[in-house]
Amino acid sequence: MKFSTRMDRIKPSAIRDVQKKISAKPDVISFAAGLPDPALFPLDDYKKAADDMIDEKGASAFQYGLTKGYGPMLDKLVGRLSTKEKIDCSKENLCMTTGATQGLALIANMFLDEGDVVLTESPSYLGAINACRPYGVDYIGVATDDDGMDVDELERILSQNDKVKMVYVIPNFQNPTGKAWSLERRKAFMNVIAKHDVVVVEDNPYGELRFKGDFVPTLKSMDTQDKIIYLGSFSKIMAPGLRIAFLCGEPKIASLAEEIKETWDLQCNEYVQVFAVKYMDEFDLEAHVDKIKALYLKKCDLMLAEMDKYFPSNVRIIRPEGGMFIWFELPEGLDSTELLQGALDAGVAYIPGESFYPSNVKKNGVRLNFTLVSEEQIEKGIKILGEYLATVC
Ligand SMILES: Cc1ncc(COP(=O)(O)O)c(C=O)c1O
Repeated sequence: MKFSTRMDRIKPSAIRDVQKKISAKPDVISFAAGLPDPALFPLDDYKKAADDMIDEKGASAFQYGLTKGYGPMLDKLVGRLSTKEKIDCSKENLCMTTGATQGLALIANMFLDEGDVVLTESPSYLGAINACRPYGVDYIGVATDDDGMDVDELERILSQNDKVKMVYVIPNFQNPTGKAWSLERRKAFMNVIAKHDVVVVEDNPYGELRFKGDFVPTLKSMDTQDKIIYLGSFSKIMAPGLRIAFLCGEPKIASLAEEIKETWDLQCNEYVQVFAVKYMDEFDLEAHVDKIKALYLKKCDLMLAEMDKYFPSNVRIIRPEGGMFIWFELPEGLDSTELLQGALDAGVAYIPGESFYPSNVKKNGVRLNFTLVSEEQIEKGIKILGEYLATVC
């Protein structure tokens, strides 16, 4: 068989390797996941909404629908984007996607050619890096501090490198670092971007999970030049298995996405979209998101308090105001991949930071997830991890 050259570029997720190591040790407390807490899925409400939806809509919920998405679902998105994210758009700007993951793949397919350069924060989301890889692109990780992407470095790279075609960013509670960009940094970023011919992908799956601090507007809401393609997802506010997500961009982008999607999977799951609309009509999604935030705040605060108690003082901890992850950095020179086996032997798992760097890999970062573990596991696991780190730091 003669596979395409793209297959040579496909790389299995490094996280999968870690998960394999962890599953060989079923008793470890794992902070390695990136999953929401399933105890928060409102199953009774979902059951009632699904039953009512079938009674009301009957066979039409199981029929083919539009590639762009189910009309009433798109109407809901227009309303939520306007009230929650201050993004002004209409149905013309939207295309439903099977997870934001498909949004990333659609955008990569739409824009990228061999030799193009993609800029990301450093570190950044592995799924996005891997989605662009088959197209033979190069990556440059732009330095990122606690306020967001370094805009001076961004400006320098954009001025010197005409191969840059795309900038991919996660300004809210980033995966893996949990950081959120300040308002000033967002404005400065938009000023730099305005001067260059690049497309920006703003990936915002965690934006609604702000459990501390003040709301900061999305880049898309500041976008007067239609440079930003915004990706939204219901994975973290309803359930990831539903695969409800969407992209929002200028009408040309939304309709190109529709055309590509037609050849990939024709449409998103019709049943799921009709169900989601019924759920939002019958129940209060915003109240449900408040419940998620309250529990995640409690777990995050507990984890930070335990880290303060047990971690060596030369470990730098990033304190998130939302999302699902806490990032910490070991003293320079330590390698969190090398240290993982020792942590597993002690009884805890994490994701080593090196897999999140598209270039200029740094090895001392660690990602911890606080949403899937119980409070008891947080207390026990962080103590174990802290005691282990004290022996190596
Ligand atoms: C930054 C980021 N983007 C996208 C995704 C994927 O989201 P979805 O479930 O909508 O495909 C994730 C999932 O963890 C993520 O962290």
